[in-house]
Amino acid sequence: MTGISLKGAIADDKLTVLSDAGIIVAEGGIQAIGSFEELRNKHKEIEIHELNGNHVCLPGLIDAHTHICFAGSRAKDYAMRNAGKSYLEIAKAGGGIWDTVTQTRKAPQPTLTKRTQKLANRHLKNGVTTLEVKSGYGLSVAEELKMLRAIKEADSLVAADLIPTCLAAHMLPKDYEGSASGYLAEIAEKLFPILKEEGLTNRIDAFIEESAFSKEVIAPYFQQAKVLGFDITVHADQFSTGGSKVAVDFDAISADHLEASTDIEIALLAKSNVIATALPGASIGLGCSFTPARKLLDAGAALAIASDHNPGSAPMGDLLTQAAILGTFEKLTNAEVLAGITFRAAAALNLQDRGRLKEGLLADFCAFHSGDYREILYSQGNFKPCMVWKNGELAFDKHSH
Ligand code: NIG
Ligand code: FE
Repeated sequence: MTGISLKGAIADDKLTVLSDAGIIVAEGGIQAIGSFEELRNKHKEIEIHELNGNHVCLPGLIDAHTHICFAGSRAKDYAMRNAGKSYLEIAKAGGGIWDTVTQTRKAPQPTLTKRTQKLANRHLKNGVTTLEVKSGYGLSVAEELKMLRAIKEADSLVAADLIPTCLAAHMLPKDYEGSASGYLAEIAEKLFPILKEEGLTNRIDAFIEESAFSKEVIAPYFQQAKVLGFDITVHADQFSTGGSKVAVDFDAISADHLEASTDIEIALLAKSNVIATALPGASIGLGCSFTPARKLLDAGAALAIASDHNPGSAPMGDLLTQAAILGTFEKLTNAEVLAGITFRAAAALNLQDRGRLKEGLLADFCAFHSGDYREILYSQGNFKPCMVWKNGELAFDKHSH
């Protein structure tokens, strides 16, 4: 995927397929990539790990939007939705996100760490070597800190890189006696400095929606975050529009969801530098329409695809499956889907050091037992990698499981 631009549609013939190739790894990075024979002749002293039979090697997959730090289950929401209640109705009745907040607050930090670790390891087996993880089920200074510390600890225990994001602006906590702006002001004043001090995250997210925070109330919050040097990301246009405009106005790194985006929002995103992140897992989870991915790409936007793995709207947590399904419904090329879960997803996390198989980048990659890269998405997620490397180390090997 070298040489493909960050934005816009991509035809499959723009992909470079290297045959009989090899990768030279040193100190966790890709030192060279090219013909196996040539590399072997040039690097006589090197230890060789040769794959037998045909394999397709892809960059390690990047899941740029998850909520895998949580406690409890929302199986009852699923049953209620299928019986006719909407996601927003369930939220209004005190279920939904608030239910997970209640359960997460009860969980000690080590319990959250363990669950996050377990889920991250499941994603790793599916090829995911970098995974964003949001807080947002604490909704107080102390409880958000507990979540972000758990995420940091989990990161030290897993092979994948966990990229933490503060989502204290997920919803107005029901036990908060005061206004939305009062809550956000308190978070900005008390939590933001600790996030910096402890190195817990450099990303601030907010859910902009009628049931969560309005664009007016979020503006001073984002303003403060920007002054402190945080990157901004937004849960935008999930059920109603408005969030994507805030993302563009605040020069956010990404605007995620976009299921409700119309041609106006699509045009706005396409001419901005904001990465548009589709979350097909939430569409599948809620039975809603997909993000207009085809239109976004055709308008010239940069499209990333992430799992949104969370206990409520997206419990499946399988990036490859969801990306393949989005591809089918939105008529995306193989190249567009693969870009969306690799280098375009890296851009959604503001990471320049990964996402392509290229000299100088991290040696994160996964191998699929096939001679044709198209088999991967064609199998709609049922075809998983047999081996996964993180920083040049073999982190998962199907044969030893
Ligand atoms: O991205 N939309 C808001 N937040 C999450 C869902 C969280 C939940 O339902 O627990 C999302 O879909
Ligand atoms: Fe989300």
